[in-house]
Order: sequence, then structure tokens, then C-alpha cells
Amino acid sequence: MNQGPLVFLGVFAAVIASWLGLVIVPHLQFGQQDMVVLEETGESYPGGRSGLALQGAEVYREQGCYYCHTQQVRPAGEGPDLKRRWGVRRTVARDYLRDQPVLLGQMRLGPDLANLGARETNRTTLLLKLYNARVLIPNSLMPRYPYLFETRKLPPGATPSGDALPLVGPFAPPPGFEVVPGPDALALVAYLESLRAEARFYEVFPTPPPKADTNQVQDALSPTNGPPTNAVPATNATVTP
Ligand code: HEC
Repeated sequence: MNQGPLVFLGVFAAVIASWLGLVIVPHLQFGQQDMVVLEETGESYPGGRSGLALQGAEVYREQGCYYCHTQQVRPAGEGPDLKRRWGVRRTVARDYLRDQPVLLGQMRLGPDLANLGARETNRTTLLLKLYNARVLIPNSLMPRYPYLFETRKLPPGATPSGDALPLVGPFAPPPGFEVVPGPDALALVAYLESLRAEARFYEVFPTPPPKADTNQVQDALSPTNGPPTNAVPATNATVTP
């Protein structure tokens, strides 16, 4: 018997099912996501990154930082990410709206970086970490990226410039030299500083529903017109007839 049509139908059904599951369903779930206006600051979230930070994202890709670092904070109950203070909340699809490509990463040899900009505000620490993480943590597994820096000779009698790395002991450059960040190191640090996933929204900081004891509740919860905001619907609004 000729099984051709049956095999064709089977393959066709498999292709359609995966297309529906991998393309259409995620699109229906996340495709309509838009920016929100944050109530505290009036800014829209996610805001864009600066041009330098966007260049830094390219350096992050080139150097393969995502081989060891993720940018996704799991919810409480699905891992210790929040306990490790990698974020103040889980990450949501909206956090990545402006990223192209999204540098989620898959493996974690190092800490998650989704909210790094909020927890590490010292630029020198970030630069030292890139130059040689062992300056800060003696047995760090993080690779060195010294080629993103320049070791340059100081003119006789000159003191090191303001942006020279504070390297001492075995890490110090030879006398008369200084180590300064190159353009790629500065761009990468600008990108790392821009990594923040801490804005408060209703979908990550859900507020408990108001007690349904009066008929004001319905009114207070009715959707308002205008752009979506992260404002919590007022629960004790008074009803004016
Ligand atoms: C081979 C794996 C590996 C790669 C590749 C790697 N890192 Fe790391 N990274 C680590 C480990 C392990 C740590 C934790 C130890 C430490 O802080 O030194 C770390 C720590 C860090 C930290 C400090 C995080 C914190 O919570 O304080 C930053 C920032 C960082 N890495 C950035 C980068 C950047 C940027 C790149 C790419 C240029 C990169 N890493 C590439 C393994 C890696």
C-alpha cells in the first residue's frame, strides 16, 4: 500500500503544530506588550539605552559574556535568585522589549546580570572586574579581558591620569606605566551600568484584590483611558453620583 499521503500528512501536522506552539502562541502571549509609564518617575519603561551602552551590548556579545552570565531572574520558589539578591523581582517579558537581540544566556558560571546596574554602582569595580577579576576576588573563575585596556608609558615625572586603574602589588604595571580602559571597556561598562530590571509593575508586584464588601469597588477598578501605567487602582475612591 502507498503510505506516501499518510507520511506527508504526519509531517505536515508536525510542522504546523510546532509553528503554532513556537511562533503563534508566544506571539499571542507577548506580541502585544508595550511600554508602561512608571507612576513614580513619569518615565516610560523600558527606556532606551544610551548609544555608548548599545555599543557595549555588542562588546558583550563579541566577548561571549553570555556563555557564563544570564540576564533572567527566576521567580521566588523556582530558584534562589532573589535570595542571592540578583534582583528585587523576577524578570518579565517587558524588561526585554528594547533589546535586540535579547542576551538572556543559558548557563550560569557567574552571577545573573539582569539587575547588575542597580547593585554595582562603582565604575572602578566594574573596570577592575573586566581587567582581572582576581584583583578583587583572589580565586575568581572569571576570565581576564586585559586587551580591552591599554598599558601606556607615562612621561617622565608625570603622575598617573585620573582614569588609570588603581592596581597594586602583583597586578601593578611596571614603574612608569599606567593601565587605562580602552573604548570597548568603557562601552561595556556603560552597558553593564544600564542593566536594571527593578521597575515596579502590576504584573510583578501584584497587589491583593480589594475586599469586595462595597459596591464602590467595581467603580474604582474600572479601566481608565490613556496609556497603561503601573499605578495600582485606587481601592477606597469615593463614588460621586
Ligand atoms: C568563564 C565564565 C565567565 C565569562 C565568560 C565571563 N564571566 Fe563574569 N563572572 C564569572 C564568575 C565565575 C564570576 C563570579 C566571581 C567574580 O565576581 O569574580 C563573574 C562575575 C562577574 C561580575 C560581577 C557580578 C556581581 O554580581 O558582582 C561581572 C560584572 C561580570 N562577571 C561581567 C562579565 C562580563 C562583562 C563578561 C564578558 C566580557 C564576563 N563577565 C564573562 C564568570 C565569567
